[in-house]
Amino acid sequence: MEKLIFFCVIWIVNMQTSSSDLSVGGSSVLRVRMGENITLNCSMRNRDEVAWYLLRSEELVLLISAEKDKTGRRLLTTYNQNRTRMKMTADSWVTRVSLTITGVKKSDSGLYFYGIKSDTPEMHFDKPIRLEIKELPKKVDITVTVTVTERVLMFAGVGLAVCVFFLATVVAGGISYHRGQQKGWKAAKQEALMNQKSAKMSLI
Ligand SMILES: *[C@@H]1O[C@H](CO)[C@@H](O)[C@H](O)[C@H]1NC(C)=O
Ligand SMILES: *[C@@H]1O[C@H](CO)[C@@H](O)[C@H](O)[C@H]1NC(C)=O
Ligand SMILES: *[C@@H]1O[C@H](CO)[C@@H](O)[C@H](O)[C@H]1NC(C)=O
Repeated sequence: MEKLIFFCVIWIVNMQTSSSDLSVGGSSVLRVRMGENITLNCSMRNRDEVAWYLLRSEELVLLISAEKDKTGRRLLTTYNQNRTRMKMTADSWVTRVSLTITGVKKSDSGLYFYGIKSDTPEMHFDKPIRLEIKELPKKVDITVTVTVTERVLMFAGVGLAVCVFFLATVVAGGISYHRGQQKGWKAAKQEALMNQKSAKMSLI
């Protein structure tokens, strides 16, 4: 029973944390499983340059930066920390820009900021997004352990019931057999006595 309650609590906690977008104190939280891809969006309306930064364990890392070309219809990447994992895409007027990171790792968790700027040197930052990486194996472990435990308990219960039934049948059978023997023995004894009596009678 305690195991079952524990399992239910874990399940409820998992259900609540599996919704991918939650608001905590104004900043968004993005919770994904290890190995998944993420897409972070930003608005570049009336701006020419964009850069994404990651703040993790008191270290600020520039991930990627890009700027509009002369026509203002293309986004040119000026820096990319890891080309195999990160890519920036934009809509046709480069107003909505997305950063895609493939196969997120534990080290990708942290606060993601993007800064945008135009001709003037100052950069403007929006609210950060907190990325949290969920570890899948732990969740599976709990479910498997409980299932195995429940199964063992179930089989043990059925086994016990069968044993009790078997024992009860054997004991009951044993008693009736024993009684039957006693009855037969008594009857035989009485018959023998009767025979003795009648033998005596015939002698007299
Ligand atoms: C992640 O992106 C890569 C490259 O675009 C793709 O091959 C892969 O199927 C994606 N994975 C998921 C879980 O969407
Ligand atoms: C960014 O936009 C894409 C496409 O609309 C969406 O799938 C994704 O969830 C968005 N990212 C965030 C962090 O909201
Ligand atoms: C880029 O990411 C790939 C895949 O995670 C990794 O193997 C590689 O070492 C990374 N490169 C750099 C320069 O961080």
